[in-house]
Amino acid sequence: MKLVSQSSRMREIFSRVAPHYGFLNHLLSLGLDTRWRRYAAGLIEVSPEANMLDIATGTGVLALEIARHTKSKVKVIGLDISEEMLTRARRKVEQAGFTRRISFQNAPAEELPFDDDYFEAVAIGFGIRNLSEPIIGLREIYRVLKPEGRAVILEFSLPPYRILRFIYRLYLTMVVPLVGRLIAQDEAYRYLSQSVLKMPGREEFEAVMNETGFQYARHHNLGLGIGVVHLGEKPLSAA
Ligand SMILES: C[S@@+](CC[C@H](N)C(=O)[O-])C[C@H]1O[C@@H](n2cnc3c(N)ncnc32)[C@H](O)[C@@H]1O
Repeated sequence: MKLVSQSSRMREIFSRVAPHYGFLNHLLSLGLDTRWRRYAAGLIEVSPEANMLDIATGTGVLALEIARHTKSKVKVIGLDISEEMLTRARRKVEQAGFTRRISFQNAPAEELPFDDDYFEAVAIGFGIRNLSEPIIGLREIYRVLKPEGRAVILEFSLPPYRILRFIYRLYLTMVVPLVGRLIAQDEAYRYLSQSVLKMPGREEFEAVMNETGFQYARHHNLGLGIGVVHLGEKPLSAA
């Protein structure tokens, strides 16, 4: 029940911010999000005809980055709970000429409509912190990954350096909500910047990945730690 009502709150928030979502992401990442997606896509290694999943795909920007980075027969499914986001994603993919390689599905990350061991890689960009049940989402990623498949989890984070962390916290709590109110007249910006503050630390998240069953859980800091990519593989022994 809780899961359903939180998911519909998320759907409502993201449907509202969909028209200015790109701007919001640039704001939270100090303009670095595009570069980070490209970097995260570069960490994906799949076979030439692999199936891939991009969870919380939003407007499909990470799905597009992944398609550009992988071979021409790799197929990417972008999944999201907001139809407003998916409408924009479909338009973007059509304009970029990738409709044969990227398709979209409307479904919750906590109940992925796919078989076990189906994808060679699963990505989620700036999405895990927004799931109503991130741990269930992580378990679902693990379930649908093939043994030896890789999870690539890109997220905002708090920088590990104290002064920078202090400045970024101020930026999230004061500047981002103010800009959100001025530009979009929307309180959703406050919620979204606060969700960055609630994101577990890198080591804590890695521990959760290990508990879920991933092996070699590790991370790369991005933009002095304002961003992070978490990586982990499903062990071969899970076959
Ligand atoms: C911050 S956006 C990320 C978009 C994109 N991945 C990117 O790189 O910019 C987060 C997305 O997560 C989606 N979302 C939130 N909760 C979800 C859930 N439970 N299942 C699937 N998608 C969800 C929202 O609709 C939104 O489009």
